[in-house]
Amino acid sequence: MTKNKNVLEWIEEMKALVQPDKVVWIDGSEEQLKEIRNISLACGEMEALNEEKLPGCLLHRTAINDVARVENKTFICSRKKEDAGPTNNWEDPKEMYAKLRRLFDGVMKGRTMYIIPYCMGPIGSPFSKVGIEITDSTYVVLNMDIMTRVGTDALKQLGDVSNDFVRGLHSKADIDEDNRYIVHFPEDNAIWSVNSGYGGNVLLGKKCFALRIASYQAKNEGWMAEHMLILGLENPQGEIKYVCAAFPSACGKTNLAMLIPPEVFAKKGYKVWTVGDDIAWLRPGPDGRLWAINPENGFFGVAPGTNIKSNPNALASTRKNTIFTNVVHNLDDNTVWWEGLDKNPPKNAVNWKGEKWDCTDGSKGAHPNSRFTAPAINCPCISSEFNNPQGVPISAIVFGGRRAKTAPLVYQARSWEHGVFVGSTMASETTAAAAGAVGVVRRDPMAMLPFCGYHMGDYFQHWLDMGKKLGDKAPKIFNVNWFRTDDEGHFIWPGFGDNLRILNWIIDRCEGKADAVETPIGYEPKPEDINLEGLDISMDTLKGLLNVDISLWKEEVAGIKEFYGKFGDRLPNELKEQLAKLEANLDK
Ligand code: GDP
Ligand code: PGA
Ligand code: MN
Repeated sequence: MTKNKNVLEWIEEMKALVQPDKVVWIDGSEEQLKEIRNISLACGEMEALNEEKLPGCLLHRTAINDVARVENKTFICSRKKEDAGPTNNWEDPKEMYAKLRRLFDGVMKGRTMYIIPYCMGPIGSPFSKVGIEITDSTYVVLNMDIMTRVGTDALKQLGDVSNDFVRGLHSKADIDEDNRYIVHFPEDNAIWSVNSGYGGNVLLGKKCFALRIASYQAKNEGWMAEHMLILGLENPQGEIKYVCAAFPSACGKTNLAMLIPPEVFAKKGYKVWTVGDDIAWLRPGPDGRLWAINPENGFFGVAPGTNIKSNPNALASTRKNTIFTNVVHNLDDNTVWWEGLDKNPPKNAVNWKGEKWDCTDGSKGAHPNSRFTAPAINCPCISSEFNNPQGVPISAIVFGGRRAKTAPLVYQARSWEHGVFVGSTMASETTAAAAGAVGVVRRDPMAMLPFCGYHMGDYFQHWLDMGKKLGDKAPKIFNVNWFRTDDEGHFIWPGFGDNLRILNWIIDRCEGKADAVETPIGYEPKPEDINLEGLDISMDTLKGLLNVDISLWKEEVAGIKEFYGKFGDRLPNELKEQLAKLEANLDK
């Protein structure tokens, strides 16, 4: 497959460690994938679904202790502890390698070792990067084939001499929770993952490479790897403006990226095009603006809640050649179901744990973090720029999270520096995307808390440096919150397609077409500038959604101070000044 000695030597070394019975290089051909699919079906790792209703679709169930990312088992093993920073788990790389070598020693005896060369980003793009993942899981092979560009093209992109590829080693081993490790060695371009079979832990191109390793590379090379969707908003004149948005896992990236405009907007000719739903790699282009590519080739989306009303584009993306993980298996017609798909849970079904299930006992059939892995080309609103090697120019960056109170529906940062402050102080309620408690508010700067591959203080500094480089061509920065709740805990803002109403104001601000009002936390829309046509929401409700509660924000300041305290002298002065300014504004 390749003459590249760096690749071949590394493969030999790994082979000696894991001692597989058989080695298979993934070339990306249809024939080979078909073969692997058959192996996966034969060994029970996958089940084939109804060929008429869901052609090419497969079902997989993970072990019940292995359903989400494991942040407490995720490590950044830089040589120096301080380079991993206060927000990452760290162990000395020598000790960690020794521990992992013991776990990988002979782990593939009796198994096949698959070697997956893959490219993050369009083949031929100067921004793309290559990785190779070794795995003993056909589930990983078939998912990686959807999520990335795999096979000979990726090796061609790497070339015969380059050493610039990410070395990924994965084994399901025994899915032993106590010995589960997701470990990154940024200085070695290496990721070792063991004892898990859940997507976010084992599809190493995704969060592990495209965020944790890439963020480290990006800092050194002068670009940015961010946990952001990329969408294009087309106006009635046919002009398309691109927006990136960073929300924590399970906080609405996939939904926003595939938004369908409400009828009043659709009639006028507004459209949304999806470039990416999870990760953006951003660089200043020759014109001085910030340009983004989506390094991925598919969507690893949250299934529950996805339906014909909330996200028809996501649903359409999953109707062929898709892998479903931990959803309900409808035995009557061999299809899939999840909470929020429709109001008719199947009567004759198997739940995500593999048990007979008929919804009468009140239990959930699909795991809250059940997922679909769907090819990007399936998406009805995929952008014509999806494969553009140069990417798309970004007008606005949007931060957001789940906050029942405090954060208003939308506000704009006063400057790039203030925007970095807003991003760095983001907080959001935890979700089922990671193991642990759900609904606890935690700081999640730029939605990168679990994904930054180096010291977060240095990461903030990198953001500030990028702003200096971009100068007045820098995108404008905003913050949104779709998740404010009323006293009964119901979401007040309808969200989903109606989020276009907010995006529209955001673009208008970037173009200098909309006014704003100054508040202690930044610029807010004049309520009358948010188009509520066709919505059952009163002006007063909107005003409530935009309200800045001074006493809550004073509590927020206290929380930020405590959080910032972690970073010691690596916290940039600009951010300390922004915090002081916020405090002063609240006292005015
Ligand atoms: P991602 O993991 O960031 O890509 O998040 P998803 O787009 O998959 O959404 C995660 C969950 O949030 C799903 O249950 C969605 O139904 C829900 N969600 C997404 N957008 C909105 C919104 O605008 N309002 C509300 N209330 N829920 C949303
Ligand atoms: P997402 O990513 O929830 O941000 O879509 C997948 C994951 O967290 O495993
Ligand atoms: Mn998503």
